[in-house]
Amino acid sequence: MKTSPLELLEAARDAAGHAYAPYSQFPVGAVIEMQDGTRYDGCNVENASYGLTLCAERNAITTMIAQTTGTNPAARRIKRVAIVGLKAKPCWPCGACRQVLREFGTQEVIVEGDGGEPLVTSFEELLPHSFGPEDLGS
Ligand code: THU
Repeated sequence: MKTSPLELLEAARDAAGHAYAPYSQFPVGAVIEMQDGTRYDGCNVENASYGLTLCAERNAITTMIAQTTGTNPAARRIKRVAIVGLKAKPCWPCGACRQVLREFGTQEVIVEGDGGEPLVTSFEELLPHSFGPEDLGS
């Protein structure tokens, strides 16, 4: 059965519980659901050299790549991403994460509305006229 947006947000909230965010005190969790149904999660990982901070979304994506080989393309295509910031409703993905989510074909973005309800948005709405692998040409 298809996982509900609310269930994905719950999984993202669990992931946020693993965050290493001593500088911002702004824990974030993300879950990516692939076209083959597999899910990966990630949290933000900060650093004393602030600029090296890794966002939750990109952490989930690097885990996904490390755990797949690319022989099954669907295993590397993102269907949906759910993002939870423990201190922000909604917590939209930053610009850098949008571009990296774009690389893997993300179709839908799920964040929490003011009251915790799922807000489901098409990825195209968050990053219109985007640049991606196809644009490099042949
Ligand atoms: N953060 C994420 O993990 N994802 C986003 O899309 C927005 C920002 C993290 C980075 C940093 O650790 C903290 O939130 C505050 O910016």
